[in-house]
Amino acid sequence: MITIGTRNFGLELNGAASANTQFAVEQFKELKDAKCKGSEWTGWLRFADSIGPKLLKDIESYNSSMKSSFDVIVVIGIGGSYLGTRAISEALANEYLLAQPAAQRKFKPIIYVGHHLCSDATSDLMDFLDNVNPIVNVISKSGTTTEPSVAFRLVRDYMNRRYGEGEAAKRIIATTDPESGALRKLAVASGYQTFPVPRDVGGRYSVLTAVGMVPLAIAGYPVNEIMQSAQKYFASILQCDDAALGQHAVIQYASCRKAAVDHGKVTELLAYTEPKLRNFAEWWKQLFGESEGKNGKGMFPASLALTTDLHSLGQYAQDGMRTMMESFLSFKAPARHAAKMKVPVLNDDSDQLLYLEGKTIAAVNDAARLATSFAHSQGGMPCLSISVDEELNAKSLGALIAFYETSCAVSALMLGVNPFDQPGVEAYKKYLFGLMGRKGYEADGQKVTQG
Ligand code: PA5
Repeated sequence: MITIGTRNFGLELNGAASANTQFAVEQFKELKDAKCKGSEWTGWLRFADSIGPKLLKDIESYNSSMKSSFDVIVVIGIGGSYLGTRAISEALANEYLLAQPAAQRKFKPIIYVGHHLCSDATSDLMDFLDNVNPIVNVISKSGTTTEPSVAFRLVRDYMNRRYGEGEAAKRIIATTDPESGALRKLAVASGYQTFPVPRDVGGRYSVLTAVGMVPLAIAGYPVNEIMQSAQKYFASILQCDDAALGQHAVIQYASCRKAAVDHGKVTELLAYTEPKLRNFAEWWKQLFGESEGKNGKGMFPASLALTTDLHSLGQYAQDGMRTMMESFLSFKAPARHAAKMKVPVLNDDSDQLLYLEGKTIAAVNDAARLATSFAHSQGGMPCLSISVDEELNAKSLGALIAFYETSCAVSALMLGVNPFDQPGVEAYKKYLFGLMGRKGYEADGQKVTQG
């Protein structure tokens, strides 16, 4: 269960959010009935229910037929083709997974490449590969994106030289369009295992498809739990009767966001209390940034790591320009740590911590979240709470993915924009192609001026 708390959101914005409820419900219904803007890309809403279970079976049977031994999975992808996977893998894995001895690892490490054009980091990657026994999952819906294509060319060449083409082909999996694109052609010609990215699911809504499920399943993550929990959450709104829809967390969150925008808020800060969620926040930023940021609309999605950033950005959140709203994401405290992770009882106040003796770190963390939300709201920041009544685990992540994807689509529709396209992402590409001499783009390259 995910609940939205509005106590610190302010009287005026709460009033505006209530007034937005009916509009949010209407936009949700348009989404549900595929009558909204971009309706041809709404396959994600029912994917976990319809295609998800069969996909997981296909992955399982591929997994059990895999003969090559490996200790690292190299995921090559950018944007929606890696952020969701990384959000889940890093939220659920040991913080020091790569440094753990192999026998102690709960999951196989996944390393993420092809999401930048930095030669230094790429050189480090090539050195790193020599020390491990990798398999590779290249992921690109279009199959033509520059960053992952360049990385894949390097890694493919490396794999062919290291293992020979036959064994390399067994170690490379391509996740891409079911029929077209350069990657699809290359994969078929080279004999790579392939998995499809459904045509009706856009990149940033694709984590529950093969895009996320293939690498996560191969690494040993509990993909069935993630999928089932997401399916249940999607069903909770798709099957919600009209009378209850207005109380659903998706509708409440979207209504509050619209109230904030209408009152001049231009940024939403996602404040999270677990460092392992840093890439979940990156996924959330892409989801909202690419879905809403068009036609001069949409709040800029930013994030605040609690309590780390309270000692850097916290000052601004408390006291800077009053142009933001903040949402605090929290989970139930992890029971498995409760006994161990306590402030040691030493009956000693020389470090002035006597008042905390015997308290769990989780309780202190939660108090810090409550105190921060209250302090920021006192400073004039409208603050929401998004509380998950589960620990941070596969189940809560599955539900959260469904919650945020649906809220984001409704929220973007309320702004009057298409939540599923990203025309702005194309702008830099034509000038890059022109500068690098790609045929047909020469004129664009000549326009580029030194900044
Ligand atoms: O959300 C999106 O569609 C984009 O961010 C894409 O995921 C990103 O541009 C990568 O595209 P592709 O998977 O085609 O390489």
